[in-house]
Amino acid sequence: MHEQRPIRPPVLRPELDEALRTRLAALCEEGWAIFEKFDSDVRDHDFHPFVPAEYEVVLTSLLEHRAPKRRFLEWGSATGVITIMADLLGYDACGIELDASLVKTARALAERFDSKARFAAASFLPTGYHWKTADGDERTGTIGTGESGYLQLGQALEDFDVVFGYPWGGEEPMMHDLMAKYGRKDALLLVHGVNDGVKVYRGGHLSDPLERTARDL
Ligand SMILES: C[S@@+](CC[C@H](N)C(=O)[O-])C[C@H]1O[C@@H](n2cnc3c(N)ncnc32)[C@H](O)[C@@H]1O
Repeated sequence: MHEQRPIRPPVLRPELDEALRTRLAALCEEGWAIFEKFDSDVRDHDFHPFVPAEYEVVLTSLLEHRAPKRRFLEWGSATGVITIMADLLGYDACGIELDASLVKTARALAERFDSKARFAAASFLPTGYHWKTADGDERTGTIGTGESGYLQLGQALEDFDVVFGYPWGGEEPMMHDLMAKYGRKDALLLVHGVNDGVKVYRGGHLSDPLERTARDL
């Protein structure tokens, strides 16, 4: 996990109209400002699992996979920046976040950006889910437990076309297990990594960009 705001260029996307570009750039700016305050108010005193993904990198991936009304879910949506970004790009976007105070921040941010993104203050783990590796390890790292958020959203994991997660080290296998057990076989899982950007999986396998383009046309 990086602890500092990466130096990123502004949102320069010729394929987006100027108004949307400006909105996305303002959203990222505000997202970083909220995190900087959260970092000094909360993380400087105690551990908290929220560290933001590199918004610009995630934006590239969201642009690549967008299609009107494609259903998007962010696991652990924190301040909501990525879910709101997805909504502004035309996805039908939801986020699930365990920390209710972060969800409050996300809803206020969505309102400021005139976004219809929806958030559940709950867990992204489906009810009854139990994690165990092949060798019996049941540790879930920083992934916490709580009431499952799918009922609140009125949507099951299998209803989503694109799922995004930013796992801490060692937590990615659980995300693949969740998709294998509850996700749709043809859904995309976008996994943000610290050093390798966003990896795209379909059916548990790294998805080939060329094959993806042909399928999604
Ligand atoms: C590494 S942060 C990623 C934040 C955001 N997705 C991003 O990429 O900027 C992980 C987030 O997951 C949340 N979280 C941890 N366990 C969760 C669970 N079971 N259900 C929902 N959110 C959870 C944490 O509170 C934290 O905000």
